[in-house]
Amino acid sequence: MAEPHLFVIYGGTGDLAKRKLFPSLYRMLAKTGVSGEAVVLGVASAPLSDDEYRRSARESLASAGIGDTSAWCDERVYYEQVERGTPSLEPLARRIAAIERDHGLSGNRVFYLALPPGAFPRVIEDLSKVGLNRSDGWTRLVIEKPFGRDLQSAQELNRLVHRYFDENQVYRIDHYLGKETVRNLLAFRFANLLFETSWNRDRIDAVEITVAETLGIGTRAAYYDNAGVVRDMMQNHLTQLLALVAMEAPHSFEADAIRDEKVQLLRSIRRIDLNEVTFGQYGPGTTAGGEQLIGYAGESGVPAGSTTPTYVSLRVDIDNWRWQGVPFYLRTGKRLPEKSSHIAVRFRPPPTCLFHGRRDECVAHQNVIKLILQPNEGFELYFDVKSPSESLKLTQERLRFMYADSFDDIPDAYQTLIRDVIEGDQTLFVRADEVEESWRLFDPVIDAAADGHPVHEYAAATWGPEGRHTPIEWALGPIRGEVTKSPR
Ligand code: BG6
Repeated sequence: MAEPHLFVIYGGTGDLAKRKLFPSLYRMLAKTGVSGEAVVLGVASAPLSDDEYRRSARESLASAGIGDTSAWCDERVYYEQVERGTPSLEPLARRIAAIERDHGLSGNRVFYLALPPGAFPRVIEDLSKVGLNRSDGWTRLVIEKPFGRDLQSAQELNRLVHRYFDENQVYRIDHYLGKETVRNLLAFRFANLLFETSWNRDRIDAVEITVAETLGIGTRAAYYDNAGVVRDMMQNHLTQLLALVAMEAPHSFEADAIRDEKVQLLRSIRRIDLNEVTFGQYGPGTTAGGEQLIGYAGESGVPAGSTTPTYVSLRVDIDNWRWQGVPFYLRTGKRLPEKSSHIAVRFRPPPTCLFHGRRDECVAHQNVIKLILQPNEGFELYFDVKSPSESLKLTQERLRFMYADSFDDIPDAYQTLIRDVIEGDQTLFVRADEVEESWRLFDPVIDAAADGHPVHEYAAATWGPEGRHTPIEWALGPIRGEVTKSPR
């Protein structure tokens, strides 16, 4: 249940606050009928008045298609300027106390750090020095990704956070965990006996996790060139998908029961074989619609000669009883031909083949379950049927469930995660040990990129450099009425 609270957006004039936080917070509050329970305080270094900030909040809500918010903004949105390097946050603490007094709030507070990662330590320390890490109600700290830039920095940041906050106050955001299909993974696996009994090395042949983006890096060179694709996507979003698809059943749906199993899974992953890692960086290219795209090197702000990878594919092996011997292929990249995120689970072929082609080859297709996260959430099951009136000719067909066909209001990821913060549910947030385990896994891969592991150029709007793994989705046979992508 959402209790009355103060929602402090630290970095309140930034892109994230404008594009995501205001619209998601507003929608969530309106939907749960508690818009009267929240008061928002934007904090940033720009010299703005409350009224100027309210105007910009109204504009962000309007550009997200939410109209008629003047009264809410005027009554419930405030702004406090905090200059960079300010010696003490005492004025902020006093302002918070005054707003809470005026609104009759009892000290429930969210501090959402919508800041560049380099700013986290200082802000966490400054807030705590003036006692803002505790209150008479609850105080929750939301930290955006990336949490650290390697294992060591993540450990240091965790130590700092824990000096002032208990782990149950800390919400490390990974917005992929808020996506409806990602949340549904647990229901899909653990509410349906049919799938879960087959979810193991005896039945599954390979698993592939793909997050393909059409966007380039846009105006984010300063951040991206330092981060690269492994820090930006693989260590967090794809690792979370991997953990949810492969973890053991938790003993309950409590946040820590689920997070314990995810950590356990991450600990079972073998050190990644660098021979199985392919890096790429997009070069110039042309989309199917004829749009000319510049390469990474030509993007504004990218230093000359940068070898930062924008694409990676790799193989993960899990050394446990369930998954021994089953390869998990993970791949993600920018400037690929389509925005598409999915998990494809391929089942083993039948033990003997009864269906042969002209050259005596086996013509049965392996079953595949494809869990689709983007662009349209849902899942598909691929299976063989006999083509009518032809003796033993097999055709691959598909059963399909799309969320949008059954439900009309699919909340956006931030809406879900903000609701969970306000309700105090940490299930979809990354715990300290979990974030450290995923850095432990990917530090050597990041080091390899820095130490001269080849980074191949691929033309923008193509499927990345030639890798050693044939994507499972391309191995799927043609589905009637659909154009299938041809393997490169
Ligand atoms: C962010 C990355 O975390 O996720 C971006 O920093 C990326 O580089 C984005 O584009 C992808 O999110 P989504 O929800 O559009 O798949």
